[in-house]
Amino acid sequence: MKSDAQYVAAIDQGTTSTRAMIFDRKGSVMMSEQVEHRQIFPRAGWVEHDPMEIWRNTRRVAAAALAAAQLHPGNIAACGITNQRETTVVWDRHTGTPIHNAIVWQDTRTDALCEELAGEHGVDRYRERTGLPLSTYFAGPKVAWILDNVEGARDRAEAGDLLFGTMDSWLAWNMTGGVDGGLHVTDVTNASRTMLMDLHTLQWDPEICADLRIPMSMLPEIRSSSGVIGSLRTSGSLPDVPLGGILGDQQAAMFGQACLEPGEAKNTYGTGNFLLLNTGTEAVLSKHGLLSTVCYRLGDEPARYALEGSIAVTGSLVQWLRDNLGIIDTAAQVEELARRADDNGGVYFVPAFSGLFAPRWRPDARGVIVGLTRFADRTHIARAVLEASAYQTREVIEAMQADSGVHLQTLKVDGGMVVNELLMQFQSDILDVPVVRPVVNETTALGAAYAAGLAVGYWSSTDEIRDNWARGGRWEPRMSESDRTRLFEGWNRAVTHSFDLA
Ligand code: G3P
Repeated sequence: MKSDAQYVAAIDQGTTSTRAMIFDRKGSVMMSEQVEHRQIFPRAGWVEHDPMEIWRNTRRVAAAALAAAQLHPGNIAACGITNQRETTVVWDRHTGTPIHNAIVWQDTRTDALCEELAGEHGVDRYRERTGLPLSTYFAGPKVAWILDNVEGARDRAEAGDLLFGTMDSWLAWNMTGGVDGGLHVTDVTNASRTMLMDLHTLQWDPEICADLRIPMSMLPEIRSSSGVIGSLRTSGSLPDVPLGGILGDQQAAMFGQACLEPGEAKNTYGTGNFLLLNTGTEAVLSKHGLLSTVCYRLGDEPARYALEGSIAVTGSLVQWLRDNLGIIDTAAQVEELARRADDNGGVYFVPAFSGLFAPRWRPDARGVIVGLTRFADRTHIARAVLEASAYQTREVIEAMQADSGVHLQTLKVDGGMVVNELLMQFQSDILDVPVVRPVVNETTALGAAYAAGLAVGYWSSTDEIRDNWARGGRWEPRMSESDRTRLFEGWNRAVTHSFDLA
């Protein structure tokens, strides 16, 4: 490691934006640059991104962060990549051009395909091998859809001309040279979200690939989450900087939150909510609607696993209030609006825009607002929007406790919505558990930086990561048991109204 390499960088390619961040040894943010990309909704239930726009944005934010921090690439010891998981890109290895827009994790177009694959086996057909139920959420069926629906794609894939990757692979390939020798890689955490990887061997499963008719030549090489993959090229903004780690964003947040021991958990409030519980070297199979996933793998060490409760819509519901209903101008205004109501006025909002994910897995569910009376107004709707994140989190925590027997003592939180004091208090109230937020809320990018920095010896061990974690906020439960029960029962009744609507 060069002596003037004082910092570590991370690219955080999320569902709504791409960010470049620079951290110092204490894990403090030195610089952050972010740019949003277009959300493309070709029809109901379909969500796409333009992979070229995202690659352009990545170069732009990386260059901007370096310039704003008055640094040059030689000051960066390593760079990590973290990303929205499952979102699927297929591109031509000779031209570097995607053959279709990226199909985003929230997209439900593979519903029929998943049903067909489930057939008489049921949705748990691949659960033992992959840790996942058959669902539109995962990347494998999205690749199959592209091969089935883009003219000539299957022939080109079989001839070895096409590559598949989740966003990490797409960026890593471009950042390490693209058509000029780019590395076609992913890491174990991202691979564990494709439904194509065997969770125990950490290799692609030839049988599942055959069932989905996906040629294995399209698949990236699976690497550890922390370990030098290669050097970034001059075509990007960080020439010669080692690419030291890749992690799916939720697993990166586990790292950033220092949830490195079995029994430690965090909940990230992003576009959706993602609650992960570290289960150590054992992949625990869920009986209560959670996913088993790889938490991370450091170099040659055994992989660590997690149980995950994925909730599709939480923060994106606030964006929907802003963009589709226009009752707020900025996402932050939702708190002020919700505070004007004393309570939810009996209104519940079930945001099943992509069906319901964990723990219910109901692809047939669609969004509903219930409990409306002439009294209800936009303040109650704003409140119901915030409460929906908290109720869905409680459902996932109950499933996690049932699966693991671990009773949560406190909930570590991070992500965009945790600046919302009303939500954090309500979350603590509805769980009857204290909620804590770290000083550095950018845990996703920080986790990827940690993975990359560990790979090059910038940080010597995970002990340093643990020492860097510091508490920024804490909320204690204040609600009476009877209110807690009444509200959660109301939510459960509301959810039943969202079924069978697709
Ligand atoms: O599984 C989807 C998840 O990785 C998306 O995360 O933060 O981009 O909403 P985020």
